Amino acid sequence: MKNNINCIDLFCGAGGLSHGFEQAGYNVVAGIDSNKDAIKTFQLNHKDSKAILFDLSNKFDFNHPDLKAIKDTKVDIIIGGPPCQGFSIAGKRLEDDPRNILYKSYMKFIDHYNPKVVLLENVPTIMSLFKGAISQRIISSFEKKGYSSNVRTLDSSLFGVPQKRRRTFFIFTKKDEYTWPDPTTEEKPLTTKDAISDLPKLNNSLGKDFSPYKSKPKNPYQELMRKDSDGIYNHISVNHTEKTKNIISLVPDGGNYKSLPKSLQTTRKVNIAWTRMNSKKPCFTIDAGHNHHFHYKENRVPTVRECARIQSFNDSFIFCGNKGSQYRQVGNAVPPILGKVLAESIKGIINDTI
Ligand SMILES: C[S@@+](CC[C@H](N)C(=O)[O-])C[C@H]1O[C@@H](n2cnc3c(N)ncnc32)[C@H](O)[C@@H]1O
Repeated sequence: MKNNINCIDLFCGAGGLSHGFEQAGYNVVAGIDSNKDAIKTFQLNHKDSKAILFDLSNKFDFNHPDLKAIKDTKVDIIIGGPPCQGFSIAGKRLEDDPRNILYKSYMKFIDHYNPKVVLLENVPTIMSLFKGAISQRIISSFEKKGYSSNVRTLDSSLFGVPQKRRRTFFIFTKKDEYTWPDPTTEEKPLTTKDAISDLPKLNNSLGKDFSPYKSKPKNPYQELMRKDSDGIYNHISVNHTEKTKNIISLVPDGGNYKSLPKSLQTTRKVNIAWTRMNSKKPCFTIDAGHNHHFHYKENRVPTVRECARIQSFNDSFIFCGNKGSQYRQVGNAVPPILGKVLAESIKGIINDTI
């Protein structure tokens, strides 16, 4: 059920975080991103929101034609964070360093909307970047504006997502105490197999990107993922060479290049080479896509849909753009289920101050 809390998602990508907030009942007014495919995906899957294609490294004010429509909207919470590369520490404050353009843009939104809560997500390395100076400056720039800060690195696998994915969340609140959500699946995290074992076999010869479900869901997670969907999109395999298929066939479930005969171990010179998912554990972090991480059983990399399942996107959430772009959008996202857990944990604070 919708609540009356308005939210804007900055650097929204495909909208993993927004999807979670929407599932928690928030009204996602708008998502802003400079990537065309991501914005197309965002619009397709957030039909009631404004998907705004906008480069936040540009100079702007809120009379800009792309922003005018949301200029006077009441915004209770701003979610999303500037990419980590957007931070440096040359000036005394983050806002003083001309290279921190994205952070400056971000703060412009905070000043304009004066939201009750801000949720900023980033990779955990943000905490050690410039020996912790960046995270300290983020915190002090919000505290100067009257916010209390809460920072924690969370592992998605403890919150109902079948994936070990650690991300750092800054939650800034006006006056109220915030309580972090308790882990929900600490005892028995979901596994890769729990997430994807019901997906139909690939039939790329059909030449179309839709497969109806061919079996019943095998567990509550698969049931949840199938909600509002008759089948799946974005489930097309990468074409591997025979040599690649032969080499990966020698790696067992959960193994990597170390399981290969010595002569083949150095065929790819990266430490993640020839890694297979482990069917019995939460998946490793889904990233923006490459050819080193393979399915636990099939001799191929996972499809975009398999990655999306592991990221906890419902099957009804469809990704636009070419395959490389789809993998990037999925890998960049905050898992919607974790987004929803965080959204639920914040609701009380916002409701109290509305
Ligand atoms: C980590 S992703 C965000 C993922 C998103 N929170 C989700 O859950 O799906 C970061 C996003 O920042 C966007 N971005 C990078 N530079 C940008 C800029 N100058 N202006 C607007 N968006 C930008 C990228 O296109 C990318 O989609």
